[in-house]
Amino acid sequence: MRTAIAYVSYSGNTEETAELIQQKLYARGIQVDMHRIGIDQPIHPSQYDVLFLGTFTWENGSTPDEVKDFVLEIGYKPDNVAVFGTGDTQFGGDDLFCKAVDKLVTFYESKWGGLKIEQSPRGSQEYVIDNWLKGVLQHARHIA
Ligand SMILES: Cc1cc2nc3c(=O)[nH]c(=O)nc-3n(C[C@H](O)[C@H](O)[C@H](O)COP(=O)(O)O)c2cc1C
Repeated sequence: MRTAIAYVSYSGNTEETAELIQQKLYARGIQVDMHRIGIDQPIHPSQYDVLFLGTFTWENGSTPDEVKDFVLEIGYKPDNVAVFGTGDTQFGGDDLFCKAVDKLVTFYESKWGGLKIEQSPRGSQEYVIDNWLKGVLQHARHIA
């Protein structure tokens, strides 16, 4: 199985989440290509069994411009996109929490619910990542 993790992060929370997902995939013997959105060369989703897409949420629940550009760069809706992200409930409560994750899940009609992490993923939220990843990989194996 081959996977990629494409993500954007300003202050490090989404990057930390991406790195934890990377470690957990490596631990299962799964190949992972890391892609920093807006920095690295374009990637081709069709080369991967799963493309993990990570984003934070910006003002009033918006999706970062870098992610919108990435979506345009891909240019179609691959059926293998699993979305994760970080946010902060202090910015608008549950309604706006990780709204960019919800928007991307809807846009890609993702098979998987989005993973939402409050700020840093370290510590008590790691089990949430584990459970989510288990669900993604079960279904990915099923379709592979
Ligand atoms: C100006 C600003 C607006 C934000 N708006 C939201 C928001 O609407 N919803 C949300 O869940 N988080 C919001 N956040 C919180 C960030 O998404 C959160 O801190 C995230 O973990 C940052 O990711 P990063 O560390 O990968 O850059 C906002 C943060 C800032 C600075």
